[in-house]
Amino acid sequence: MRTHRQVLAESKAAHNHPTYSKMAFVMGCGVQGRGSGSSVLDENGRSFLALFDQYGNQSFGYSNERLIAALRDQLDLGVLNSTKIMFEEVQIRLTERLSELTDGRLPFAYLANGGGETIDNALKLARATTGRPKFVSARGCFHGKTFATLSASARPEHEVLFGPFLERFELVDFGDVGQLAAAVDGETAAVLLEPVQAEAGVIVPPPGYLREARRLCDENGALLILDEMQTAFGRCGAFFAHQRFGVVPDIVCIGKAFGGGMLPISAVLGTEAVWETLRALPSTFGSSLGGNPLSCRIGLESIAIATEEEFLTGVGEKARVIGDRLARIVERFPELVAAHRGMGMMHGLEFHDDSIAGLVLGGLLAAGVTSTYSLYNTRVLRIQPPMVISEADLERGLETLEAVLTEAAAHRGRRDRPQAVTSPLTLRVRSSHPARQVLDLLHGRPYLLDPFAADPEADATAASAEVEFRGTLGDDHVVWADRARRLEDGVALRADPCWLWASLERSVRVRQPVEDDGCELEIRIEWDTGSGGYESMIGGRIGFFVTRRLTDLVASLERTLEKEGRNEASRTRRPLP
Ligand SMILES: Cc1ncc(COP(=O)(O)O)c(C=O)c1O
Repeated sequence: MRTHRQVLAESKAAHNHPTYSKMAFVMGCGVQGRGSGSSVLDENGRSFLALFDQYGNQSFGYSNERLIAALRDQLDLGVLNSTKIMFEEVQIRLTERLSELTDGRLPFAYLANGGGETIDNALKLARATTGRPKFVSARGCFHGKTFATLSASARPEHEVLFGPFLERFELVDFGDVGQLAAAVDGETAAVLLEPVQAEAGVIVPPPGYLREARRLCDENGALLILDEMQTAFGRCGAFFAHQRFGVVPDIVCIGKAFGGGMLPISAVLGTEAVWETLRALPSTFGSSLGGNPLSCRIGLESIAIATEEEFLTGVGEKARVIGDRLARIVERFPELVAAHRGMGMMHGLEFHDDSIAGLVLGGLLAAGVTSTYSLYNTRVLRIQPPMVISEADLERGLETLEAVLTEAAAHRGRRDRPQAVTSPLTLRVRSSHPARQVLDLLHGRPYLLDPFAADPEADATAASAEVEFRGTLGDDHVVWADRARRLEDGVALRADPCWLWASLERSVRVRQPVEDDGCELEIRIEWDTGSGGYESMIGGRIGFFVTRRLTDLVASLERTLEKEGRNEASRTRRPLP
């Protein structure tokens, strides 16, 4: 029988996003239930603590009471639809408030729904304001998934699929002032940067970099656009991260936390000079539902929360706890962790490879803690919890992270386990029993060393038919048709492709006798979930399940051989197909 989460995983794979579905399934994610504070429940009532705020969305936690009260209030008011022609007070109050937050330096705001949309509009404004064609953006940047934002990040893998990109984006290395100086010229409309590059792996620029960017823009008559989608609302220790870097951009884009993770709202904030453009063509900026009353109401309340002194003090204290703890973790686990970077409550832990990230992510989930990786650097685990997380919960989350790393380090270091960490996995083990006896046993019960088998003791008769396996991926019944073949020197198992596996093959080969009359077994497990760039991260977790199960199976093999040895004479061999 399929679990509820598996039914949904299969449906998501069939109708929405196969790779994300497989990733969530293999990592052990359940069906989302109610959320509160920094925790969310699954359908079984199990609580998961967030060490990541889902790219800024859950900055104020799940179901924040103040935000919900504001929404209720607006619902009760009955002012819910945008007329677009009447004066919508809540929207007007919100743009006033945004201007105040910039001390009037960016007095205008355009309200939209999502982040990518704001960047597109910021770029339009920059071209219209300067009359220039060129943009300078930074390698590794992530500004969204629209055409303009994908053109800004100019990733080769995107160009293959979506190319040609929009013209005149020039990429520079983030943090390199020399490259920026060479790129910004009289043709440049704007330099587009994140104050801290989130999806590149939480890259904090070197001191003075943003100030230099500001200076170069001023010298060349270009605009500075900052994407503060993840860094604003206090995340870096001030309402806007650019305040911490001591610069004022011409345009800043915000979103995500703005809507409390519940409603879509984003904004482009700009100077008076930039807004001049709208005089010529007033209708070029606008959105059907951008700045609707409910979104604006929640936006106002999000700002109210993030500007309270107590809130920002709390962020500062928790930022110190995270920074100190992660610095210790780098020293404690050099075999796993390559680096730690961060600012405020926005941190990343870089592992040596993707499969470690997958292993650790899965381990965290198993221990009731959620996080994720950086989109363009999947080796980097995000430690960016909701800013409202309690100190006790933060401590518990970091404690769990250390425990999972301890387990991962032990798993990686074991000699009796396969050295590869993802597909194909090969394990050689010795048996004290003669090759003939082991071979006979495997030919009769080919699933004895199959880490996916529901019933390792299943005999060859069962193997000849379609077999329903219960996987060891969590408690799910991973169902697929499987076939067993007898080889001269062992057995080979092959699953039919199914929603989870593009292919799954296992083989056990019995090698010639070793000194003590025993033999050597070579177990090989090879899989492909068809997840492209995410294969090795998913594989890190599958590899963990496989090797853990194999350890148990190998340990029980000798016991079975003992028993079988005693029954050898009476046992009849059944042929495989
Ligand atoms: C820095 C940054 N900019 C822009 C975006 C795009 O925002 P949205 O997904 O709301 O379009 C994101 C989303 O993760 C982001 O992190």
